[in-house]
Amino acid sequence: MEAQTANAVKISSLNPGQPLPLLIQPADGAPKDAASLRRWLDENKAFITEKITEHGAILFRGFEVDGPQQFESVAQGVDPDLKNNYLGTSPRNAVSKYVFSASELPPFYPIMQHCEMSFLPNPPRKLFFYCHIEPEINGETPIVNFRQVYKDLDPKIREEFERRGIKNVRNYNGPAAKAKFDLWKLKRWDEMFLTTDKKVVEAECAKNGLEFHWKDEDKLTLINDQEATKSHPITGEKVWYNHLQVFHEAVAAIEYGYIAKRQKNLQAHWFNFVTSAMTGIKKLTTKDGDQAMNCTFRDGSPIPVEYVKHVEEVIWKNMVIFPWRKGDVLAIDNYSTSHGRMPYKGPREIQVCWAADN
Ligand SMILES: [Fe+2]
Repeated sequence: MEAQTANAVKISSLNPGQPLPLLIQPADGAPKDAASLRRWLDENKAFITEKITEHGAILFRGFEVDGPQQFESVAQGVDPDLKNNYLGTSPRNAVSKYVFSASELPPFYPIMQHCEMSFLPNPPRKLFFYCHIEPEINGETPIVNFRQVYKDLDPKIREEFERRGIKNVRNYNGPAAKAKFDLWKLKRWDEMFLTTDKKVVEAECAKNGLEFHWKDEDKLTLINDQEATKSHPITGEKVWYNHLQVFHEAVAAIEYGYIAKRQKNLQAHWFNFVTSAMTGIKKLTTKDGDQAMNCTFRDGSPIPVEYVKHVEEVIWKNMVIFPWRKGDVLAIDNYSTSHGRMPYKGPREIQVCWAADN
């Protein structure tokens, strides 16, 4: 490994003994600019493809990647098939042809671990993050090896998920919706599909296996079933692969419990308390199926909260959390490795792009 790359880069683990992420930095005295990194990637494509599958994530650190164009070029060096269609849940703004702000969700909101768009028939195969403005306080993008999560889950609970499958339900307001504060609010359907034409929305849903229902003229419900696990398309390994950790109504409160323990600040504790209380209130005041998002077993029966707690426990046990540095590019194998976001304070700009073969 070293002989092949010694002149341009040095390769190690970010955290000794931990396979992910693999750390690639410029070798001593070697050029650090983004164009040189791109050249090295072009010359070592097979090596990079093999390593990203093996480790699940690669962190390119110490290169002078500056701005969305250079980020896009580095990402294309890893995988040329960048895409810009997005049917996920986060509000995002485009900053170049293929690069978006990672999420416009409020800073206090955690993003739970998920493989990007896991509920679609053809999720992205790779995902890239770039640190344009380093966060001052927290705001990490933790990653988790979901192959290990599969192995670590209680086999009985895992088997039940595999047998029963998962149904995701999302409810979106439309262009006529009045702006009002909602801790769980998703973006509007016209923002997600980038059109106000319902026929275009319906065609896109059909293409992606999403059942759609228009409600009260302006509201849209999207429903889709997914398996709870998947086989990695290259290695064949089993992977925990679904959006339970994002969509289940009980998960935000559980997640805040872990974050409050980690961040140990008053804000995290306060939101832990508020989300727990609001989850309870919402459960009492919102009809099943009307939550901004929720998931059940495929037959519509509820997933026990104890199961969600177990999945969260296994995910947190395997979580790798490291601070961002300006210019970092993190390349992720979206078939095996999840990502999320820790709440933060102050400035932070992380950008994202993704590659797929559809
Ligand atoms: Fe994501």
